[in-house]
Amino acid sequence: MSTGPESTPLPRETAEMLLGRAREARRHAYVPYSHFPVGAALLTHDGRIVTGCNVENASYGLTNCAERVAIQKAVSEGVHGYRAIAVVGPQDDLDCAPCGACRQVLYEFGPDLLLISPAPHAEEGYSVRTMRELLPGAFEVERLNARAPRG
Ligand code: THU
Repeated sequence: MSTGPESTPLPRETAEMLLGRAREARRHAYVPYSHFPVGAALLTHDGRIVTGCNVENASYGLTNCAERVAIQKAVSEGVHGYRAIAVVGPQDDLDCAPCGACRQVLYEFGPDLLLISPAPHAEEGYSVRTMRELLPGAFEVERLNARAPRG
């Protein structure tokens, strides 16, 4: 069994603090088309937090989800080593399932990254799931080894 930081349970106050930061980030969502604001808050192993919100576009397909905005901000600022990400949709107490594209992008930075979502029926009021649970059979870097040999 792994004894790394990934295997330590996330303290309740950390999860709740992160959900709060995601709700704050949601205020900045640019959602004139869907009216579906989403906020995300990414926590590093050393306690840094990077937030994101969804940013839509008149050319709909150019929309960026909150999760990907957060991770792209973090990577581009040299902030690495992600522990958990909280995601909150328009309603504080409803699960906002990350889309497939976001699952793949988050997985890139660690199968053990924890996704924290509101879960009103759970005892704690939130759920904690790993990217491995959320994206079984993900496309991983190892699979690139199967590329065709150059002729
Ligand atoms: N969206 C996110 O930002 N994250 C999710 O996890 C699901 C969907 C955004 C994309 C779009 O701006 C709006 O929600 C409606 O799809």
